[in-house]
Amino acid sequence: MSRRRVLGYDPAMPAVEIRTALVTGASSGIGAALSKLLARQGITVALVARREDALRTVAAEIEAAGGAASVHPVDVADPEATVAAVQAADDALGGLDLVVANAGVGKGQWSGKLTWADCADVLAVNVTGATATLCAVLPRMVARRRGHLVGVSSIAAYRGLPKFAAYSASKAYLGTFLEALRVDLRGTGVSVTDVRPGYVRTAMTSDNESMAFAITAEDAAERIVKAIRARRGQVTFPLPMAAGAHLMASLPNPLFDRMMGRRKR
Ligand SMILES: NC(=O)c1ccc[n+]([C@@H]2O[C@H](COP(=O)([O-])OP(=O)(O)OC[C@H]3O[C@@H](n4cnc5c(N)ncnc54)[C@H](OP(=O)(O)O)[C@@H]3O)[C@@H](O)[C@H]2O)c1
Repeated sequence: MSRRRVLGYDPAMPAVEIRTALVTGASSGIGAALSKLLARQGITVALVARREDALRTVAAEIEAAGGAASVHPVDVADPEATVAAVQAADDALGGLDLVVANAGVGKGQWSGKLTWADCADVLAVNVTGATATLCAVLPRMVARRRGHLVGVSSIAAYRGLPKFAAYSASKAYLGTFLEALRVDLRGTGVSVTDVRPGYVRTAMTSDNESMAFAITAEDAAERIVKAIRARRGQVTFPLPMAAGAHLMASLPNPLFDRMMGRRKR
């Protein structure tokens, strides 16, 4: 087995030349940093999120640096509106080469106090929104025999993390969904990448006091683009968090429960 294979490179995935991309959750954090990085690489980027003013600020930065971007205000919790917006961007840009389902929400809540209201948003954005985003272009990419689908899952996908029941489950769903796509789409010309970041310093984690091995959104964006260009089926970063996640995934339940149960409510 070659070193590249061990690192996750999948020779069955085609190297898609990326000229156009769509990123959800492009108004802040990882999505904004990723959109700016893609634009710096000459890619025309369609920016999707709810806050139009924030999207316009990202687009203006991209254009000031000589890049091209369009703004698509949409709430991905509305799947019909999401499919329509993604397909409109696909039509306007002459076919999207890359679609990144990055929009996500989630905050900590001890499961003993969990209400449906705490979970509803998480499922609507992280599960329904991500699925609608990817499915909007899936048959189109297959018909064109070119494209790359990316989902920003999380290190939280590896196990059910305390205080993050709905969030962990939503990211496990996305990881499993992407895995099935990756297998199904072999030989179709469409590549799939599941991105599982550890802690990234963004608005989402601004209240989090202890974040081991935290990285910046710009660093996360660099790693995501590297994984896409290397045709990796899955990437978890940074390395110490990836190692920890794999270890955590292999722990027997009694040990995992005891270790995680020590956390404060
Ligand atoms: N930060 C971390 O440590 C970390 C770790 C692992 C995975 N992730 C994942 O990385 C992704 C990006 O998160 P981030 O850290 O960059 O957080 P962030 O700065 O809070 O960004 C979240 C983005 O999602 C968008 N969004 C939220 N709800 C939306 C909705 N209903 N419709 C459309 N867009 C919506 C937000 O835009 P609007 O508010 O303008 O709609 C924003 O652009 C998420 O999927 C998150 O789960 C983050």
